[in-house]
Amino acid sequence: MLAPALLSACILDSNQSPFETAGPVAEDQKNIFIFIFVIAVVVFVIVEAALLYSILKFRQKGTAARPPKQVHGNTRLEIGWSLAPIIFLVAIAVPTVIMIFDQDRGPLDGRVPDNPLVINAVGHQWWFEFEYPGEDVITANELHIPVDRAVDVQLLSDDVIHSFWIPQIAGKVDMIPGQGNSMWIQASETGTFLGQCAEFCGEAHANMRFHVVAHTAEDYQAWLNGMRRPPVTPEPGSDIAAGQLVFAQNCSTCHTNNSYRPAVARTERDTQIARQNGFKADPENARIISAPNLTHLALRTHFAAGIEKLNADTLKQWIIDPDDIKKGNRMSKQAAIYNVPGSELTTTEVDQLVAYLLSLKPAAADAVVEISVPRSDGGEPSAANGEALFASMGCSGCHSTGTNTIVGPGFSGLSDRAGSTVEGQSAEEYVRESIMKPNEFIVGGGTVSAMPGTFGAQLEDSEVDDLVAYLLSIE
Ligand code: CUA
Repeated sequence: MLAPALLSACILDSNQSPFETAGPVAEDQKNIFIFIFVIAVVVFVIVEAALLYSILKFRQKGTAARPPKQVHGNTRLEIGWSLAPIIFLVAIAVPTVIMIFDQDRGPLDGRVPDNPLVINAVGHQWWFEFEYPGEDVITANELHIPVDRAVDVQLLSDDVIHSFWIPQIAGKVDMIPGQGNSMWIQASETGTFLGQCAEFCGEAHANMRFHVVAHTAEDYQAWLNGMRRPPVTPEPGSDIAAGQLVFAQNCSTCHTNNSYRPAVARTERDTQIARQNGFKADPENARIISAPNLTHLALRTHFAAGIEKLNADTLKQWIIDPDDIKKGNRMSKQAAIYNVPGSELTTTEVDQLVAYLLSLKPAAADAVVEISVPRSDGGEPSAANGEALFASMGCSGCHSTGTNTIVGPGFSGLSDRAGSTVEGQSAEEYVRESIMKPNEFIVGGGTVSAMPGTFGAQLEDSEVDDLVAYLLSIE
């Protein structure tokens, strides 16, 4: 009896204990569990007492073997032991069934909530993606919610069956591919609560965790606003700027880190599904699989699906050898830096990458270059908007507006040479095509552009117009 108790780690005071409830859903579930448990204990005590009494009182004494008195056909006994279980089962079933329907309607006593927050939670092997569909915000492995507000969690999976479980907030509901499920959660106190995948889903199942951060309404709004601001632009020549380039060349094919732009947030979900479908269609050869969104990573307390505290040491260890921290992770099997000889990152590059990743947090609200509202159809492209985009999209990290090359070419006098670069293409067409298809317009040789191929997809059409107008205006 001692061994199972120790092995199951039965401690009540734990951040993964369903008895330390922090919300109405878990509270109701705990109460009904205790109610059923008490009935079960009463039945257990009565049955065991009767059993022990019978064993002691009626055990065979002496050697004479006599058959015990038979009770076949005793109507009173038959009715009694048929009726007793029915009474117990009805007592358990009525409140349970009522609660199942109540918890389907809302988190509080079956009341339909006024202003619920809808969040999509997507299970991936082996991490959680969270989308705020009304807000154009998307993140991974850390779910932020306001306290005392009903949250309608829409549960999806892109691969196998996972299960969504926040022991202190709500019980488990499966995330099934092709079958939308949903559940209500609500936190009644601020704090951080542990979540865990509760359905065996493959090698890293036990390490598929997440955190739920419950904020006051003001702090939640501040977090949301921050998630929609760009990060601080790195100082040219700094370690962080060098790390940005390491990220662009080695990580950005799978990891999105700029979904603070609404257009990127909106396309991210489709991109994740396309990546997952590509992996399902050809798992042996797929080079791109769903990877956690890293936008404003430095705001998170944990990484690697909630198992590792986020700091420079742990992040460095992770980048050097992900398998040492999380066996089964897809990154070590897919990323070129671990699989293609000659592509390994140097120690310096790892340090630069860590510095860059830990710099990813929202710029102060008053430091953000305000981009004017996209012009309506028929308006003229705005070079001023384009200039703001040039800074906020990180173009200025690689391209100067003079003649010197940082990573990409300098843009001084671009309008003079752009028109004569490709036969039959105007300067405007050439610049636009270079933004949208960087790999087809490589200046200075090479086969793969350092500029992310997905760059153009992050811009609205009118923003591309604005950016082109600005680039062609550079003297
Ligand atoms: Cu996902 Cu277990």
